[in-house]
Amino acid sequence: MGLVAGFFLSSYFFNSKRLRNGGFDPVPLSRQDASDHLKNPFKIDSVFLAKGKKIYEANCLKCHGPEGRLPRSHPFSIHAGHHTPGDFMWLATNGIASKGMPSWRDKLSYEERWQVISYIQTTFAGTEPMMMR
Ligand code: HEC
Repeated sequence: MGLVAGFFLSSYFFNSKRLRNGGFDPVPLSRQDASDHLKNPFKIDSVFLAKGKKIYEANCLKCHGPEGRLPRSHPFSIHAGHHTPGDFMWLATNGIASKGMPSWRDKLSYEERWQVISYIQTTFAGTEPMMMR
């Protein structure tokens, strides 16, 4: 328990530069662990989401488009509602090399990655009705 609390608390105190430079990163190595257990430790408010929108527009828009589509497998929105936040975080952190999705581990801080994931999930969830992967 203490370990888990320390783990999340520490994410507040590591500044973005350190994370960008390959320092401690709280995203678990295993996708299953991230999907089941990793939660956003930051407060999701309008400022947080506005930062996510900026990051999306600067880094993700050129491939995912204004409606959050998946460039390779789906024509429409990112199916934000079918993945846990932790799973999306794992994917954004590690990328999907086989499909050309870049890794953002060293380009965006841990907080910035949560900002953009929260923005994506808040903005695009539910915009793709029935498509499952
Ligand atoms: C160079 C193009 C490119 C850029 C830039 C890019 N992505 Fe992706 N992304 C992809 C591709 C390709 C996939 C694989 C999905 C598919 O099959 O089309 C993907 C998949 C994803 C997925 C998994 C979605 C799912 O439902 O499986 C997430 C989450 C994601 N990207 C987030 C981001 C975020 C956040 C950014 C910006 C910080 C970003 N991507 C920038 C190409 C890109």
